[in-house]
Amino acid sequence: MMFINSGLLAVAALLSSVWAVPISTQELSDMAAQGYRLLDLSPDTEPVWKTEAEKLDLMRAGIHFFDVTEVYDPTEDNSHATLSALAEKATFPSPSHSSAVTPILNTLSTSNMNSWLSTLTAFNNRYYTSTTGKQASQWIYDTLASITASRSDITVSKFTHSWAQFSVIVHVAGKSSGALTVVGAHEDSINLNSPSSGRAPGADDDGTGTVNLIEVLRALIAAGWQPATPVEFHWYSGEEAGLLGSQAIAQSYKRAGTSVKAFMELDMTGYFQPGTKEVIALEADYEDSGVTKFIQQLVDTYSKLDWAMDEPCGYACSDHASWYKQGYATGMLYEAITGEDNQRIHGTGDLTSVSGFSWAHSLEFAKVALAFVYELSA
Ligand code: BES
Ligand code: ZN
Repeated sequence: MMFINSGLLAVAALLSSVWAVPISTQELSDMAAQGYRLLDLSPDTEPVWKTEAEKLDLMRAGIHFFDVTEVYDPTEDNSHATLSALAEKATFPSPSHSSAVTPILNTLSTSNMNSWLSTLTAFNNRYYTSTTGKQASQWIYDTLASITASRSDITVSKFTHSWAQFSVIVHVAGKSSGALTVVGAHEDSINLNSPSSGRAPGADDDGTGTVNLIEVLRALIAAGWQPATPVEFHWYSGEEAGLLGSQAIAQSYKRAGTSVKAFMELDMTGYFQPGTKEVIALEADYEDSGVTKFIQQLVDTYSKLDWAMDEPCGYACSDHASWYKQGYATGMLYEAITGEDNQRIHGTGDLTSVSGFSWAHSLEFAKVALAFVYELSA
């Protein structure tokens, strides 16, 4: 392969989109070095090479994919059949700690969330390769370090990537060992017209999920909470560019043999369309039916809202898909059913001033996330 030139690589790129040509380690590093990205567009086809410009066109066209340039593993079986067989085995007990959980829910503060979101949206954007994207991840890290400073059983760490912005992980040790409970949100934002330098406040997508999780952790710590089994809170880099941070982390957990009880993602929790029924929408694909049923029970027990099953998003819609692809049991909460969700995302207009943005709405998602963490780790 040493004699391969860029012309041949371009031909290989073309062929791999037509035939299932196996991708060698050499091809991976050569193509990546030239700026090509390897995109997984569906569960039962080989990934295909695209230029950064072609990738952006797909995103603008609303086509979902995993960007697997840095995590591609030819030995992985990601077919739908294999994945659903793996994931359907999870079962969870009904919620049973309401006398402990409810008083903590009452301490969740929308003014804390609003103030943190003001800081996050003030960065020009939180794009995964930008300087301000990196600064935003450092601000999240610093904020979490301060919130958890009194606790020697809690560690805050940076999960670094080949790009500027890092992901942030908070690990809360359990009183005993056991499988991890994980909640996640994505810290990055994007302006689809101009990703690397365009203004992308990303208030709803996913500033809301990001500050929901910070506030859930703050409230739990203030209540003196100590889980029986370990818990992690994750803030992912690069979700908007093809689930980059969450794929790297889920793959590394799988390779380390880490057991995860359940994973839940919060991606967009701040908006419901005026005039529609206000609900907690539940993602219908790349989710485990046992986790989703458990989340439905949490909503019934702890939220004033009803849940509603969304229609399947299609493919690779948010970070839960990265965990599902590694065989973990996942669920995802969403602000509204598809079609009634916030249309201002991915541009300059994703702000809290949008008509329909509601902290009272977002608070309901923080409540469910807190209950998810508490109940599964008690
Ligand atoms: N939060 C958004 C979109 C979204 C819509 C998530 C519906 C879940 C349900 C998310 O950050 C996003 O924009 N995802 C991309 C896909 C990604 C793999 C590039 C999208 O939907 O285009
Ligand atoms: Zn998002």
